[in-house]
Amino acid sequence: MTSSLATVAYIGATILFILSLGGLSNQETARRGNLYGMIGMALAVLATVFGPQVTVAGIPWIVGALVVGGAIGLYAARSVQMTQMPELVALMHSMVGMAAVLVGYATYVDPEATKGFEGAAHTIHAMEIYIGIFIGAVTFSGSIAAFGKLSGRIGGSPLLLPARHWINLAGLLAVVYFGRLFLQAETIEEGMFPLFVMSAIALLFGIHMVMAIGGADMPVVVSMLNSYSGWAAAATGFMLSNDLLIVTGALVGSSGAILSYIMCNAMNRSFFSVIAGGFGTTAAAPKPAGGAAEPQGEVSPILAAETAELLRDAKNVIIVPGYGMAVAQAQHTVFEITRTLREKGVNVRFGIHPVAGRMPGHMNVLLAEAKVPYDIVFEMDELNDDFPDTDVAIVIGANDIVNPAAQDDPTSPIAGMPVLEVWKARTSIVMKRSMASGYAGVDNPLFYKDNNRMLFGDAKKMLDEVLVALKA
Ligand code: TAP
Repeated sequence: MTSSLATVAYIGATILFILSLGGLSNQETARRGNLYGMIGMALAVLATVFGPQVTVAGIPWIVGALVVGGAIGLYAARSVQMTQMPELVALMHSMVGMAAVLVGYATYVDPEATKGFEGAAHTIHAMEIYIGIFIGAVTFSGSIAAFGKLSGRIGGSPLLLPARHWINLAGLLAVVYFGRLFLQAETIEEGMFPLFVMSAIALLFGIHMVMAIGGADMPVVVSMLNSYSGWAAAATGFMLSNDLLIVTGALVGSSGAILSYIMCNAMNRSFFSVIAGGFGTTAAAPKPAGGAAEPQGEVSPILAAETAELLRDAKNVIIVPGYGMAVAQAQHTVFEITRTLREKGVNVRFGIHPVAGRMPGHMNVLLAEAKVPYDIVFEMDELNDDFPDTDVAIVIGANDIVNPAAQDDPTSPIAGMPVLEVWKARTSIVMKRSMASGYAGVDNPLFYKDNNRMLFGDAKKMLDEVLVALKA
Protein backbone atom coordinates (compact mmCIF):
# COMPACT_ATOMS: atom_id res chain seq x y z
CA MET A 1 0.00 0.00 0.00
CA THR A 2 1.44 3.42 -0.96
CA SER A 3 1.88 5.99 1.79
CA SER A 4 -0.77 8.30 0.28
CA LEU A 5 -3.32 5.44 0.23
CA ALA A 6 -2.46 4.65 3.86
CA THR A 7 -2.99 8.34 4.73
CA VAL A 8 -6.41 8.32 3.03
CA ALA A 9 -7.32 5.16 4.98
CA TYR A 10 -6.17 6.84 8.21
CA ILE A 11 -8.34 9.90 7.52
CA GLY A 12 -11.28 7.56 6.79
CA ALA A 13 -10.67 5.72 10.07
CA THR A 14 -10.44 9.03 11.99
CA ILE A 15 -13.80 10.16 10.59
CA LEU A 16 -15.35 6.80 11.49
CA PHE A 17 -14.01 7.09 15.08
CA ILE A 18 -15.52 10.56 15.44
CA LEU A 19 -18.86 9.29 14.05
CA SER A 20 -18.58 6.36 16.47
CA LEU A 21 -18.17 8.64 19.48
CA GLY A 22 -21.09 10.76 18.26
CA GLY A 23 -23.24 7.61 17.91
CA LEU A 24 -22.33 6.33 21.37
CA SER A 25 -23.66 9.49 23.00
CA ASN A 26 -27.25 8.35 22.45
CA GLN A 27 -28.87 4.99 23.18
CA GLU A 28 -30.78 4.92 19.91
CA THR A 29 -27.64 5.43 17.81
CA ALA A 30 -25.20 3.48 20.03
CA ARG A 31 -25.38 0.29 17.94
CA ARG A 32 -24.53 2.26 14.79
CA GLY A 33 -21.74 4.04 16.73
CA ASN A 34 -20.24 0.68 17.63
CA LEU A 35 -20.39 -0.44 14.01
CA TYR A 36 -18.58 2.72 12.85
CA GLY A 37 -15.92 2.10 15.49
CA MET A 38 -15.43 -1.52 14.38
CA ILE A 39 -15.14 -0.60 10.68
CA GLY A 40 -12.78 2.29 11.57
CA MET A 41 -10.56 -0.01 13.64
CA ALA A 42 -10.47 -2.69 10.91
CA LEU A 43 -9.48 -0.01 8.39
CA ALA A 44 -6.82 1.36 10.74
CA VAL A 45 -5.29 -2.08 11.37
CA LEU A 46 -5.28 -3.00 7.65
CA ALA A 47 -3.76 0.36 6.63
CA THR A 48 -1.05 -0.04 9.27
CA VAL A 49 -0.20 -3.68 8.55
CA PHE A 50 -0.06 -3.16 4.79
CA GLY A 51 1.21 0.42 5.05
CA PRO A 52 4.72 1.72 4.31
CA GLN A 53 5.99 1.38 7.91
CA VAL A 54 5.76 -2.43 7.94
CA THR A 55 8.13 -4.63 5.94
CA VAL A 56 7.05 -7.98 4.49
CA ALA A 57 9.29 -9.77 7.01
CA GLY A 58 7.32 -8.14 9.86
CA ILE A 59 3.89 -9.36 8.68
CA PRO A 60 4.08 -12.92 10.18
CA TRP A 61 4.93 -11.36 13.57
CA ILE A 62 1.95 -9.04 13.37
CA VAL A 63 -0.40 -11.81 12.23
CA GLY A 64 0.85 -14.02 15.09
CA ALA A 65 0.27 -11.21 17.61
CA LEU A 66 -3.20 -10.53 16.14
CA VAL A 67 -4.18 -14.18 16.48
CA VAL A 68 -2.95 -14.46 20.10
CA GLY A 69 -4.37 -11.04 21.14
CA GLY A 70 -7.64 -11.64 19.28
CA ALA A 71 -8.09 -15.08 20.90
CA ILE A 72 -7.50 -13.68 24.39
CA GLY A 73 -9.88 -10.77 23.69
CA LEU A 74 -12.57 -13.09 22.33
CA TYR A 75 -12.25 -15.43 25.31
CA ALA A 76 -12.41 -12.51 27.78
CA ALA A 77 -15.42 -10.94 26.06
CA ARG A 78 -17.31 -14.25 26.02
CA SER A 79 -16.51 -15.41 29.54
CA VAL A 80 -16.62 -12.17 31.53
CA GLN A 81 -19.80 -11.45 33.48
CA MET A 82 -21.47 -8.09 32.90
CA THR A 83 -20.75 -7.21 36.55
CA GLN A 84 -17.01 -7.83 35.99
CA MET A 85 -16.88 -5.41 33.06
CA PRO A 86 -15.26 -2.49 34.97
CA GLU A 87 -12.43 -4.79 36.13
CA LEU A 88 -11.89 -5.98 32.57
CA VAL A 89 -11.85 -2.37 31.33
CA ALA A 90 -9.32 -1.44 34.03
CA LEU A 91 -7.14 -4.39 33.01
CA MET A 92 -7.31 -3.31 29.37
CA HIS A 93 -6.31 0.23 30.28
CA SER A 94 -3.28 -1.25 32.02
CA MET A 95 -2.29 -2.94 28.73
CA VAL A 96 -2.40 0.40 26.90
CA GLY A 97 -0.14 1.85 29.59
CA MET A 98 2.23 -1.11 29.39
CA ALA A 99 2.35 -0.79 25.58
CA ALA A 100 3.31 2.90 25.86
CA VAL A 101 6.13 2.01 28.29
CA LEU A 102 7.47 -0.81 26.10
CA VAL A 103 7.25 1.26 22.91
CA GLY A 104 9.04 4.10 24.73
CA TYR A 105 11.95 1.90 25.80
CA ALA A 106 12.13 0.18 22.40
CA THR A 107 12.16 3.54 20.60
CA TYR A 108 14.88 4.83 22.87
CA VAL A 109 17.24 1.90 22.43
CA ASP A 110 16.60 1.50 18.68
CA PRO A 111 19.18 3.61 16.80
CA GLU A 112 16.99 3.39 13.66
CA ALA A 113 14.09 5.10 15.46
CA THR A 114 16.17 8.16 16.37
CA LYS A 115 17.97 8.43 13.03
CA GLY A 116 17.61 11.87 11.46
CA PHE A 117 16.73 13.67 14.72
CA GLU A 118 19.27 16.44 15.35
CA GLY A 119 19.32 19.45 17.71
CA ALA A 120 15.87 20.64 18.77
CA ALA A 121 14.17 17.75 16.94
CA HIS A 122 16.27 15.29 18.96
CA THR A 123 15.32 17.00 22.26
CA ILE A 124 11.63 17.00 21.34
CA HIS A 125 11.82 13.31 20.40
CA ALA A 126 13.54 12.49 23.70
CA MET A 127 10.83 14.44 25.57
CA GLU A 128 8.14 12.47 23.74
CA ILE A 129 9.78 9.25 24.92
CA TYR A 130 10.19 10.47 28.51
CA ILE A 131 6.64 11.82 28.84
CA GLY A 132 5.19 8.82 26.97
CA ILE A 133 6.85 6.36 29.36
CA PHE A 134 5.74 8.45 32.35
CA ILE A 135 2.06 8.53 31.28
CA GLY A 136 2.21 4.85 30.31
CA ALA A 137 3.69 3.76 33.65
CA VAL A 138 1.16 5.81 35.69
CA THR A 139 -1.68 4.34 33.59
CA PHE A 140 -0.31 0.81 33.93
CA SER A 141 0.14 0.69 37.71
CA GLY A 142 -2.94 2.87 38.42
CA SER A 143 -5.10 0.54 36.31
CA ILE A 144 -3.73 -2.54 38.04
CA ALA A 145 -4.56 -0.96 41.43
CA ALA A 146 -8.06 -0.06 40.14
CA PHE A 147 -8.50 -3.64 38.91
CA GLY A 148 -7.56 -4.88 42.39
CA LYS A 149 -10.04 -2.55 44.06
CA LEU A 150 -12.93 -3.16 41.66
CA SER A 151 -12.52 -6.95 41.83
CA GLY A 152 -12.33 -6.86 45.63
CA ARG A 153 -8.75 -8.21 45.72
CA ILE A 154 -7.67 -4.98 47.44
CA GLY A 155 -9.79 -3.24 50.10
CA GLY A 156 -12.07 -0.47 48.80
CA SER A 157 -11.38 2.17 51.46
CA PRO A 158 -8.90 4.95 50.65
CA LEU A 159 -5.28 4.51 51.71
CA LEU A 160 -4.18 7.79 53.24
CA LEU A 161 -0.45 8.02 53.88
CA PRO A 162 0.65 10.87 56.13
CA ALA A 163 1.86 13.88 54.07
CA ARG A 164 0.65 12.15 50.91
CA HIS A 165 0.40 15.41 48.95
CA TRP A 166 4.03 16.20 49.82
CA ILE A 167 5.04 12.70 48.72
CA ASN A 168 3.32 13.29 45.37
CA LEU A 169 4.96 16.70 45.00
CA ALA A 170 8.41 15.30 45.81
CA GLY A 171 7.83 12.53 43.25
CA LEU A 172 6.85 15.07 40.60
CA LEU A 173 9.93 17.22 41.27
CA ALA A 174 12.13 14.11 41.06
CA VAL A 175 10.53 13.24 37.69
CA VAL A 176 11.36 16.76 36.42
CA TYR A 177 14.95 16.50 37.77
CA PHE A 178 15.61 13.11 36.16
CA GLY A 179 13.96 14.40 32.98
CA ARG A 180 16.67 17.05 32.79
CA LEU A 181 19.38 14.40 33.27
CA PHE A 182 17.74 12.27 30.58
CA LEU A 183 17.70 15.11 28.05
CA GLN A 184 21.36 15.89 28.78
CA ALA A 185 22.49 12.26 28.36
CA GLU A 186 25.13 11.84 25.65
CA THR A 187 24.65 8.11 25.13
CA ILE A 188 21.81 5.61 25.39
CA GLU A 189 23.50 3.93 28.38
CA GLU A 190 23.70 7.26 30.20
CA GLY A 191 20.02 7.97 29.56
CA MET A 192 18.91 4.59 30.86
CA PHE A 193 19.42 5.37 34.57
CA PRO A 194 17.16 8.47 34.73
CA LEU A 195 14.60 6.61 32.59
CA PHE A 196 14.53 3.68 35.02
CA VAL A 197 14.25 5.93 38.09
CA MET A 198 11.44 7.94 36.52
CA SER A 199 9.61 4.72 35.52
CA ALA A 200 9.82 3.44 39.10
CA ILE A 201 8.50 6.77 40.48
CA ALA A 202 5.69 6.78 37.89
CA LEU A 203 4.68 3.21 38.82
CA LEU A 204 4.54 4.10 42.52
CA PHE A 205 2.71 7.36 41.73
CA GLY A 206 0.00 5.48 39.78
CA ILE A 207 -0.57 3.02 42.62
CA HIS A 208 -0.56 5.75 45.28
CA MET A 209 -3.00 7.94 43.34
CA VAL A 210 -5.61 5.20 42.89
CA MET A 211 -5.16 3.73 46.40
CA ALA A 212 -5.99 7.15 47.91
CA ILE A 213 -9.37 7.20 46.17
CA GLY A 214 -12.12 5.05 47.57
CA GLY A 215 -15.78 4.48 48.19
CA ALA A 216 -18.23 6.21 45.93
CA ASP A 217 -15.49 8.10 44.07
CA MET A 218 -14.27 4.97 42.23
CA PRO A 219 -16.38 5.61 39.08
CA VAL A 220 -14.32 8.73 38.43
CA VAL A 221 -11.13 6.66 38.69
CA VAL A 222 -12.39 4.29 36.01
CA SER A 223 -13.15 7.08 33.55
CA MET A 224 -9.98 8.98 34.53
CA LEU A 225 -7.84 5.93 33.73
CA ASN A 226 -9.76 5.63 30.48
CA SER A 227 -8.63 9.17 29.71
CA TYR A 228 -5.01 8.40 30.73
CA SER A 229 -4.96 5.34 28.49
CA GLY A 230 -5.96 7.64 25.61
CA TRP A 231 -3.09 10.02 26.36
CA ALA A 232 -0.73 7.03 26.68
CA ALA A 233 -1.85 5.88 23.21
CA ALA A 234 -1.33 9.42 21.84
CA ALA A 235 2.17 9.44 23.36
CA THR A 236 2.85 6.10 21.65
CA GLY A 237 1.66 7.69 18.40
CA PHE A 238 4.22 10.50 18.82
CA MET A 239 7.00 8.00 19.50
CA LEU A 240 6.11 5.91 16.45
CA SER A 241 5.29 8.96 14.28
CA ASN A 242 1.85 7.46 13.67
CA ASP A 243 -0.75 10.19 13.08
CA LEU A 244 -3.76 7.91 13.50
CA LEU A 245 -2.59 6.75 16.92
CA ILE A 246 -2.11 10.38 17.98
CA VAL A 247 -5.63 11.35 16.83
CA THR A 248 -7.28 8.23 18.27
CA GLY A 249 -5.43 8.62 21.56
CA ALA A 250 -6.49 12.27 21.77
CA LEU A 251 -10.13 11.28 21.08
CA VAL A 252 -10.08 8.68 23.87
CA GLY A 253 -8.14 10.99 26.19
CA SER A 254 -10.46 13.95 25.77
CA SER A 255 -13.70 11.92 25.82
CA GLY A 256 -12.49 10.18 29.00
CA ALA A 257 -11.71 13.57 30.54
CA ILE A 258 -15.20 14.86 29.63
CA LEU A 259 -16.76 11.71 31.11
CA SER A 260 -14.76 12.17 34.34
CA TYR A 261 -16.05 15.74 34.51
CA ILE A 262 -19.66 14.60 33.99
CA MET A 263 -19.21 11.92 36.69
CA CYS A 264 -17.82 14.47 39.13
CA ASN A 265 -20.82 16.72 38.44
CA ALA A 266 -23.15 13.76 38.96
CA MET A 267 -21.62 13.17 42.38
CA ASN A 268 -21.28 16.85 43.23
CA ARG A 269 -17.50 16.55 43.64
CA SER A 270 -14.79 18.72 42.19
CA PHE A 271 -12.35 16.81 40.03
CA PHE A 272 -9.41 17.87 42.20
CA SER A 273 -11.05 16.74 45.44
CA VAL A 274 -11.55 13.30 43.90
CA ILE A 275 -7.93 13.09 42.70
CA ALA A 276 -6.69 14.33 46.10
CA GLY A 277 -8.55 11.31 47.49
CA GLY A 278 -9.78 10.34 50.91
CA PHE A 279 -13.17 12.04 50.66
CA GLY A 280 -15.46 11.44 53.63
CA THR A 281 -12.93 9.47 55.65
CA THR A 282 -12.35 12.14 58.27
CA ALA A 283 -15.98 12.45 59.33
CA ALA A 284 -17.29 8.92 59.16
CA ALA A 285 -15.21 6.07 57.85
CA PRO A 286 -17.23 3.99 55.39
CA LYS A 287 -17.80 0.37 56.31
CA PRO A 288 -16.66 -2.20 53.79
CA ALA A 289 -19.22 -2.64 51.00
CA GLY A 290 -21.56 -5.55 51.49
CA GLY A 291 -21.03 -5.60 55.24
CA ALA A 292 -24.01 -5.46 57.55
CA ALA A 293 -24.91 -1.88 58.45
CA GLU A 294 -25.80 -0.84 62.00
CA PRO A 295 -29.61 -1.14 62.32
CA GLN A 296 -31.17 2.30 62.73
CA GLY A 297 -34.78 1.32 63.29
CA GLU A 298 -37.54 -1.02 62.24
CA VAL A 299 -38.09 -2.00 58.64
CA SER A 300 -41.43 -3.10 57.13
CA PRO A 301 -41.09 -6.17 54.90
CA ILE A 302 -43.49 -6.84 52.04
CA LEU A 303 -44.29 -9.98 50.04
CA ALA A 304 -44.06 -10.36 46.26
CA ALA A 305 -47.85 -10.82 45.98
CA GLU A 306 -48.48 -7.59 47.94
CA THR A 307 -45.98 -5.79 45.73
CA ALA A 308 -47.85 -6.98 42.64
CA GLU A 309 -51.10 -5.70 44.13
CA LEU A 310 -49.62 -2.25 44.81
CA LEU A 311 -48.24 -2.11 41.28
CA ARG A 312 -51.55 -3.18 39.73
CA ASP A 313 -53.42 -0.45 41.58
CA ALA A 314 -50.87 2.26 40.73
CA LYS A 315 -51.22 4.90 38.02
CA ASN A 316 -47.61 6.05 38.03
CA VAL A 317 -44.64 3.77 38.73
CA ILE A 318 -40.94 4.62 38.65
CA ILE A 319 -38.40 1.78 38.58
CA VAL A 320 -34.89 2.55 39.87
CA PRO A 321 -32.41 -0.18 38.91
CA GLY A 322 -28.97 -0.56 40.52
CA TYR A 323 -26.03 -2.89 40.77
CA GLY A 324 -28.15 -5.73 42.26
CA MET A 325 -30.27 -5.91 39.08
CA ALA A 326 -27.03 -6.56 37.17
CA VAL A 327 -25.90 -9.21 39.67
CA ALA A 328 -29.25 -10.98 39.54
CA GLN A 329 -29.57 -10.55 35.75
CA ALA A 330 -33.14 -9.49 36.40
CA GLN A 331 -33.50 -7.07 33.48
CA HIS A 332 -35.59 -9.44 31.31
CA THR A 333 -38.12 -10.00 34.10
CA VAL A 334 -38.14 -6.23 34.70
CA PHE A 335 -39.08 -5.81 31.06
CA GLU A 336 -41.86 -8.42 31.31
CA ILE A 337 -43.30 -6.66 34.37
CA THR A 338 -43.07 -3.30 32.61
CA ARG A 339 -44.89 -4.66 29.58
CA THR A 340 -47.62 -6.26 31.71
CA LEU A 341 -48.17 -3.05 33.68
CA ARG A 342 -48.20 -0.87 30.57
CA GLU A 343 -50.82 -3.16 29.02
CA LYS A 344 -52.93 -2.50 32.11
CA GLY A 345 -52.56 1.26 31.52
CA VAL A 346 -49.97 1.96 34.24
CA ASN A 347 -47.46 4.69 33.41
CA VAL A 348 -44.09 2.99 34.01
CA ARG A 349 -40.82 4.90 33.76
CA PHE A 350 -37.21 4.16 34.67
CA GLY A 351 -34.96 6.52 36.63
CA ILE A 352 -31.25 6.06 35.92
CA HIS A 353 -28.60 7.48 38.21
CA PRO A 354 -25.36 8.47 36.42
CA VAL A 355 -23.25 6.16 38.63
CA ALA A 356 -25.76 3.31 39.08
CA GLY A 357 -24.07 -0.08 38.83
CA ARG A 358 -20.34 -0.35 38.35
CA MET A 359 -19.62 1.39 35.06
CA PRO A 360 -20.92 4.33 33.05
CA GLY A 361 -24.16 3.44 31.30
CA HIS A 362 -24.33 0.04 33.08
CA MET A 363 -28.11 0.18 33.59
CA ASN A 364 -28.82 1.58 30.12
CA VAL A 365 -26.95 -1.34 28.54
CA LEU A 366 -28.88 -3.92 30.56
CA LEU A 367 -32.26 -2.31 29.87
CA ALA A 368 -31.45 -1.99 26.16
CA GLU A 369 -30.45 -5.69 26.13
CA ALA A 370 -33.86 -6.55 27.61
CA LYS A 371 -35.53 -4.36 24.94
CA VAL A 372 -37.03 -1.82 27.35
CA PRO A 373 -38.20 1.08 25.12
CA TYR A 374 -35.77 4.04 25.26
CA ASP A 375 -38.55 6.60 25.59
CA ILE A 376 -39.46 5.41 29.11
CA VAL A 377 -35.85 5.45 30.37
CA PHE A 378 -34.97 8.80 31.97
CA GLU A 379 -31.90 10.38 33.51
CA MET A 380 -32.08 11.20 37.22
CA ASP A 381 -32.51 14.95 36.63
CA GLU A 382 -35.35 14.39 34.17
CA LEU A 383 -37.69 12.73 36.66
CA ASN A 384 -36.44 13.50 40.16
CA ASP A 385 -39.20 16.11 40.57
CA ASP A 386 -41.88 13.56 39.64
CA PHE A 387 -41.60 11.32 42.71
CA PRO A 388 -44.25 13.19 44.76
CA ASP A 389 -46.77 12.34 41.98
CA THR A 390 -45.67 8.70 41.86
CA ASP A 391 -47.69 5.93 43.48
CA VAL A 392 -44.95 3.30 43.68
CA ALA A 393 -41.19 3.75 43.34
CA ILE A 394 -39.57 0.34 43.07
CA VAL A 395 -35.84 0.09 43.75
CA ILE A 396 -34.24 -3.02 42.24
CA GLY A 397 -30.87 -3.85 43.81
CA ALA A 398 -29.87 -0.20 44.25
CA ASN A 399 -28.64 1.32 47.47
CA ASP A 400 -26.21 4.29 47.43
CA ILE A 401 -28.02 6.03 44.59
CA VAL A 402 -31.27 6.23 46.61
CA ASN A 403 -29.70 7.08 49.98
CA PRO A 404 -31.31 10.18 51.59
CA ALA A 405 -28.24 10.55 53.86
CA ALA A 406 -26.49 12.09 50.84
CA GLN A 407 -28.85 15.07 51.32
CA ASP A 408 -29.52 15.01 55.07
CA ASP A 409 -26.23 13.99 56.70
CA PRO A 410 -23.22 16.25 56.01
CA THR A 411 -20.91 13.73 57.72
CA SER A 412 -21.91 10.90 55.39
CA PRO A 413 -19.18 9.67 53.02
CA ILE A 414 -21.63 10.26 50.15
CA ALA A 415 -22.80 13.71 51.39
CA GLY A 416 -23.58 16.02 48.49
CA MET A 417 -24.01 13.25 45.92
CA PRO A 418 -27.31 13.82 44.07
CA VAL A 419 -29.66 10.86 44.58
CA LEU A 420 -33.00 9.64 43.24
CA GLU A 421 -35.60 10.83 45.78
CA VAL A 422 -37.67 7.65 45.86
CA TRP A 423 -38.84 8.28 49.44
CA LYS A 424 -41.02 11.13 48.10
CA ALA A 425 -43.24 8.61 46.27
CA ARG A 426 -46.42 7.46 48.03
CA THR A 427 -44.81 4.06 48.61
CA SER A 428 -41.25 3.01 47.92
CA ILE A 429 -40.27 -0.66 47.71
CA VAL A 430 -36.62 -1.70 48.01
CA MET A 431 -35.73 -5.10 46.59
CA LYS A 432 -32.49 -6.57 47.93
CA ARG A 433 -31.32 -9.70 49.73
CA SER A 434 -30.43 -8.33 53.15
CA MET A 435 -29.75 -5.16 55.11
CA ALA A 436 -26.16 -5.06 53.75
CA SER A 437 -24.77 -1.72 52.65
CA GLY A 438 -23.92 -0.83 49.04
CA TYR A 439 -20.64 0.06 47.39
CA ALA A 440 -19.89 3.09 49.57
CA GLY A 441 -20.41 1.01 52.73
CA VAL A 442 -22.93 3.35 54.38
CA ASP A 443 -26.23 2.63 56.06
CA ASN A 444 -29.36 3.73 54.20
CA PRO A 445 -32.07 5.57 56.23
CA LEU A 446 -34.51 5.00 53.33
CA PHE A 447 -35.07 1.44 54.57
CA TYR A 448 -36.55 2.71 57.88
CA LYS A 449 -38.95 5.30 56.46
CA ASP A 450 -42.66 4.85 57.20
CA ASN A 451 -43.67 4.70 53.53
CA ASN A 452 -40.91 2.25 52.60
CA ARG A 453 -41.27 -1.52 52.30
CA MET A 454 -38.45 -4.07 51.96
CA LEU A 455 -38.87 -6.96 49.53
CA PHE A 456 -36.05 -9.25 50.68
CA GLY A 457 -34.58 -11.78 48.26
CA ASP A 458 -32.66 -12.17 45.03
CA ALA A 459 -33.99 -9.56 42.59
CA LYS A 460 -34.60 -12.07 39.77
CA LYS A 461 -36.41 -14.54 42.03
CA MET A 462 -38.54 -11.83 43.64
CA LEU A 463 -39.42 -10.22 40.32
CA ASP A 464 -40.39 -13.61 38.86
CA GLU A 465 -42.81 -14.01 41.79
CA VAL A 466 -44.16 -10.48 41.27
CA LEU A 467 -44.69 -11.23 37.57
CA VAL A 468 -46.57 -14.48 38.30
CA ALA A 469 -48.77 -12.63 40.81
CA LEU A 470 -49.38 -9.79 38.35
CA LYS A 471 -50.49 -12.18 35.63
CA ALA A 472 -52.68 -14.24 37.96
P1 TAP B 1 -24.86 -0.31 45.46
O1 TAP B 1 -24.93 0.91 46.30
O2 TAP B 1 -23.55 -1.01 45.34
O3 TAP B 1 -25.98 -1.31 46.03
C1 TAP B 1 -26.27 -2.49 45.37
C2 TAP B 1 -27.19 -3.30 46.26
O4 TAP B 1 -27.62 -4.40 45.47
C3 TAP B 1 -26.49 -3.87 47.47
O5 TAP B 1 -26.81 -3.15 48.63
C4 TAP B 1 -26.95 -5.32 47.52
O6 TAP B 1 -27.66 -5.55 48.75
C5 TAP B 1 -27.94 -5.44 46.36
N1 TAP B 1 -27.78 -6.71 45.63
C6 TAP B 1 -26.65 -7.34 45.27
N2 TAP B 1 -26.93 -8.47 44.64
C7 TAP B 1 -28.29 -8.59 44.61
C8 TAP B 1 -29.18 -9.55 44.08
N3 TAP B 1 -28.76 -10.67 43.48
N4 TAP B 1 -30.51 -9.31 44.21
C9 TAP B 1 -30.96 -8.20 44.83
N5 TAP B 1 -30.15 -7.26 45.34
C10 TAP B 1 -28.81 -7.45 45.23
O7 TAP B 1 -25.36 -0.03 43.96
P2 TAP B 1 -25.99 1.28 43.30
O8 TAP B 1 -27.10 1.80 44.13
O9 TAP B 1 -26.23 0.90 41.88
O10 TAP B 1 -24.85 2.38 43.40
C11 TAP B 1 -23.64 2.27 42.67
C12 TAP B 1 -22.46 2.44 43.60
O11 TAP B 1 -21.29 1.92 42.96
C13 TAP B 1 -22.20 3.89 43.92
O12 TAP B 1 -21.66 4.01 45.21
C14 TAP B 1 -21.14 4.26 42.86
O13 TAP B 1 -20.35 5.35 43.22
C15 TAP B 1 -20.33 2.97 42.84
N6 TAP B 1 -19.58 2.75 41.60
C16 TAP B 1 -20.15 3.08 40.42
C17 TAP B 1 -19.43 2.92 39.25
C18 TAP B 1 -20.08 3.38 37.97
S1 TAP B 1 -19.18 4.02 36.85
N7 TAP B 1 -21.38 3.25 37.81
C19 TAP B 1 -18.13 2.35 39.28
C20 TAP B 1 -17.59 1.97 40.53
C21 TAP B 1 -18.35 2.18 41.68
P3 TAP B 1 -27.80 -7.06 49.32
O14 TAP B 1 -26.40 -7.59 49.43
O15 TAP B 1 -28.50 -6.89 50.61
O16 TAP B 1 -28.61 -7.83 48.31
